[in-house]
Amino acid sequence: MAIANEHITHYREHGFAVVENFLAPALLAAAREEIEALLPGWLDYADNPQAPKPDHWNEPGRSRRTLRFPFVGRALNDITLHPDLQDFAKLMTGGEDIVCEQSDLTYKCRGHYADSEQVMHLDYMNHTLVYPPDLPKYWQTAFLLYYSDVSIDQAPTAVTSWQAYRDELLWPAAHTRDERPALYDKEVKVTVPAGSLLAYSMRTFHRGTAFQADGARVGHFISYAPKNPRWMGIVGWPEQGVHAGFASWMVQASPAERALVGFPDPGDPYWTEETRAGVAARFPGIDLSVY
Ligand SMILES: [Fe+2]
Repeated sequence: MAIANEHITHYREHGFAVVENFLAPALLAAAREEIEALLPGWLDYADNPQAPKPDHWNEPGRSRRTLRFPFVGRALNDITLHPDLQDFAKLMTGGEDIVCEQSDLTYKCRGHYADSEQVMHLDYMNHTLVYPPDLPKYWQTAFLLYYSDVSIDQAPTAVTSWQAYRDELLWPAAHTRDERPALYDKEVKVTVPAGSLLAYSMRTFHRGTAFQADGARVGHFISYAPKNPRWMGIVGWPEQGVHAGFASWMVQASPAERALVGFPDPGDPYWTEETRAGVAARFPGIDLSVY
């Protein structure tokens, strides 16, 4: 299902929206194929938790720094820059130019080191140097896409409408159940089929919940921010420059897609005879004619 007006209205009223079956079946299938190559056995295990857990299922040290954009292959990269995600994020900024600030896979299973009851929190502590105001021009939109079915037992994300805290200064950015029981009492658990989407914000309280039965959950964090402020973001894309997939993505991407990760725009003073030659040398096959 595409993001519809009802989702936009819900997001504006509550600070989040759930879009069931956001991904078209073919795109979901292609993404799952790429995930199988990156995380062998995880989706099969999520589909059938009676089977043995995937190899190395609790290997420490794999984080958002290791499985993130650009991916080898097309589907996960195309999903990262999905036009509907861009449109939604841009709409929330009131039409500002935007960049993609995050695209990384998240995966966990029962007993995994990431399997825990998180406290209710806001994500801005690692998405901005400052504080997220209630102003479109500084609006960051966070998405969590699910590539496996999420039942009530499979660690659903819990999210609480901002109607419960809309007029507060959002500090501290986390509250235990004892501190703010109402935040927990009002939470909604996002139980959805694979391919579904949760949209939320830096001003939306939410938390990960623990597995209640054997199983796994594989998802994808994708976030967008306005392009010009320099204080927002969770990673630096240039760090990915040495990874497999970076150059091939750069070559096949459109200028608009490159701009979404911070690449200089056509006409930017950056472009000189030397930089054009250097970028062309670094990314063989890239079409720089518009720059
Ligand atoms: Fe979070």
